[in-house]
Amino acid sequence: MSASRPLTLRINGRDYGPLEVPEEMMLIDVLHEYLGLTGTRFGCGQGECRACTVIVDDARGPREMRSCITGAHYFQGKPIRTVEGHARRDDAGAIVALSPVQQAFLDHFSFQCGYCTPGFVNAATVLLERLKKAPVARARLEDTITAALDPHLCRCTGYVRYYQAVKALALATPGLVEEDAP
Ligand code: FES
Ligand code: FES
Repeated sequence: MSASRPLTLRINGRDYGPLEVPEEMMLIDVLHEYLGLTGTRFGCGQGECRACTVIVDDARGPREMRSCITGAHYFQGKPIRTVEGHARRDDAGAIVALSPVQQAFLDHFSFQCGYCTPGFVNAATVLLERLKKAPVARARLEDTITAALDPHLCRCTGYVRYYQAVKALALATPGLVEEDAP
């Protein structure tokens, strides 16, 4: 059995811990087994499918990280967002509004079983936040979306509607896409 050491995490703006966590434990196991945050999905467990993606908001962020292959202690001092943190909630914790990405996926019927959806929500959110800082030319939009979402696997093969939803949202959000010169 591996040694444990204290771990404090900041997730969705809230501090958790210190918790005594085995040194080799992956973040997804801490989310599920210690914190009851089960929205992050365990797919392949090998870094291939990206269902387990969380967002890290450190100095290099926002960026995606795979919680099935990254040790929980790596995230000490690095704020994390999980799928539970996207919707707006009231003081009692009830959801009052989905995030724009979540709403777009719903409006476009992007998912079927939904197992891959938390990973796609996080990937699309990171992409849109990136575009807010560095808008993309209209001609490059599809390629940019493909590059961002391509690593995520969907076993129901619902890719097209995820891509369509992100494209529609990017075009509808001011400042993300630069119109091509006439
Ligand atoms: S479960 Fe993490 S990449 Fe598949
Ligand atoms: S909607 Fe089922 S795995 Fe993607």
